[in-house]
Amino acid sequence: MARTVRSSAHAAKKGTMGRKPRIRCIAINTGGGDAPGLNAVIRAVTIGGIQRGWKVVGIRDGYNGLLMPEQYPDGGLIPLTLESVRGITHLGGTILGTTNKGNPLEFPVRQKDGSYKTVDRSREIIRACRKHNIDAVVAIGGDGSLSIADALYEKGLRVVGVPKTIDNDLSETVATFGFDTAVSFATECLDRLHSTAEAHRRIMVVEVMGRYAGWIALNAGVSGTADAILIPEIPYDIGIVAEKTRARVREGKKFSIVVVAEGAKPIDGERSVLSKEIGRAEKLGGIGETVAAQLQELTGQETRHVVLGHLQRGGTPTTFDRLLSLRFGAAAVRALEEGQNGIMVALDPPTVLYVPLKKATRRMKSVPLDSDTMKTARDLGICFGDEFPK
Ligand code: F6P
Repeated sequence: MARTVRSSAHAAKKGTMGRKPRIRCIAINTGGGDAPGLNAVIRAVTIGGIQRGWKVVGIRDGYNGLLMPEQYPDGGLIPLTLESVRGITHLGGTILGTTNKGNPLEFPVRQKDGSYKTVDRSREIIRACRKHNIDAVVAIGGDGSLSIADALYEKGLRVVGVPKTIDNDLSETVATFGFDTAVSFATECLDRLHSTAEAHRRIMVVEVMGRYAGWIALNAGVSGTADAILIPEIPYDIGIVAEKTRARVREGKKFSIVVVAEGAKPIDGERSVLSKEIGRAEKLGGIGETVAAQLQELTGQETRHVVLGHLQRGGTPTTFDRLLSLRFGAAAVRALEEGQNGIMVALDPPTVLYVPLKKATRRMKSVPLDSDTMKTARDLGICFGDEFPK
């Protein structure tokens, strides 16, 4: 990670830290795909806020609780108390609900002719915050939700962001919460698949999430001793992957495990996109099935594919993710108390620091091809579909 994190003093000079605000009420929002650790952040923010004498409320389903309050019996806002956040640290999901549809900056509105146009509803969110006397929002999200948070900050809302995503693709933090849990789960799945692959002398292709970054595939693939790992950062040649599995058979190892990131693409083809809808990110998937069919065809070896899908997002957060989530939540409250605005809390071990939201959302964090983990993978003989096995 580039050392771009600002100290409080620097931030004050640059304008992300104004005069200390008088805070009476803060709102928490969880947007985009859920990730294990969301509830731990909600708990830390709630307890931290209440300890400072602030009222804390949760916005339902992203910003829908503010944009469509009439759709909620409770008006779209949940009062958060010490009682309501008790016992939630270890729970997956989010007690507030979330959505990755209907980006408020490009909200899809159906026209009479059935077509859609998009409208920017960010000012409605700001007006609703004023109406409910919300002085600041803690926005917990990935790149999409944090870009929305930055737009709200630009329009005058006090915002602090918390980086969440199993994809680990945010550039200004060493880790996002949720990633460790997803990788741990995927690794366990690879462990389980080894025995059945070996028993049947099959190739098992495992599709993992991660959008356009290969973090989950790489970390789980190396830890779970995959034979080939296909990541978006390295377009693959399926012939090379097939040769890797053939080489293993020649060496007497009659099975192979191939991990494919959902965003991986062949050198001569496109990424596998399932759907593209207005106001939401494109939906990836299907590459595992394609790779499995191609490998079976090329090698003649029986091949199966498994899509880990949303299982990677469910369940209880690992200790690492719980602690990171609690640290991020507590840091977000301290940031607000200090007068920070328009920033995201970020992990720069051993510290949690602040980064401007704009910078945090400017570029995606891809797997660096010269990273130590990549070198380790190559030293272990793992194939990335770009070089024939030696
Ligand atoms: O960004 C998190 C993530 O789980 C990606 O890895 C995946 O591509 C996407 O969300 C799936 O989104 P949905 O829940 O809409 O299927």
